Amino acid sequence: MKHLISPLDLSVSELEDILNLASEIFNDKKKYSDICHGKKLATLFYEPSTRTRLSFEAAMLNLGGSVLGFSSADSSSAAKGESVADTIRVISSYADICAMRHPKEGAPLVASIYSSIPVINAGDGGHNHPTQTLTDLFTISKLKGRLDNLTVGFCGDLKFGRTVHSLINALVRYKNVHFVLVSPDELKIPAYLREEVLDANHISYEEVKNLEAVLPDLDLLYMTRVQKERFFNEEDYIRLKDSFILDAKKMSLAKEDMLVLHPLPRVNEISTEVDNDKRAVYFKQAEFGVYVRMALIMKLLEVA
Ligand code: NCD
Repeated sequence: MKHLISPLDLSVSELEDILNLASEIFNDKKKYSDICHGKKLATLFYEPSTRTRLSFEAAMLNLGGSVLGFSSADSSSAAKGESVADTIRVISSYADICAMRHPKEGAPLVASIYSSIPVINAGDGGHNHPTQTLTDLFTISKLKGRLDNLTVGFCGDLKFGRTVHSLINALVRYKNVHFVLVSPDELKIPAYLREEVLDANHISYEEVKNLEAVLPDLDLLYMTRVQKERFFNEEDYIRLKDSFILDAKKMSLAKEDMLVLHPLPRVNEISTEVDNDKRAVYFKQAEFGVYVRMALIMKLLEVA
């Protein structure tokens, strides 16, 4: 049985299969409207979510299946002290597949060990978020036409941002991708990512503090929110939260065809005046999340 815990659980060709299927769904949205009839998706969310949980639910409903689950730890037996291992053993007999978000790194991996249904990691602490990565890769390939030969800027909280970690892990497998990592010193990518992923694979990257200086070089800019919930103290968060704000003036420095992505939710890091710029694709990106999750559910349930 297959789970999706890390973006690297999918080979490049499996990943391309999912993106192709998502594209097929995008072109004919009703084509698979009954393919998961009788199947159930459980959404086990121990942390807040809007897009990830609801796009998973919409995806399963679009496939003719049904959904059950909880949207916070407080409303589940986690509040009584139940372990993830026990919860998933039980959910395995209620549903056919599950998506789990948890504040602890590794919790979905633990669940996958005890599960008899496919487990999808819908975000584990500051670690990984592989279905956001599928969404991001789909957005890039659909709107940019390629996943190789790109200069990709990541800006904001590169330390705690799990979407950043997962997307870097996925993009290093494509040719000639140069990374420009823009953050304050305190929010640089974790050492394991720098050493074991970028350096070990001889990937070309630079770490900088000034967004304006690098904007003209970028094909893509992946903006991120400073992850308030992962800070140990409020003072540090307040000091760092507005480190970067993308506005119309900064956008005038960027290429005509640079894309701005953001996993959302946005706080202050992109001024709303950027929303009408044709290069701002973050709402489209959120829409695409449904199609890739439909494709992923179909693959993991082996109905495609
Ligand atoms: C992200 C997450 O949960 O990691 N949101 C999402 O799933 N689209 C990004 C974030 O919360 O900043």
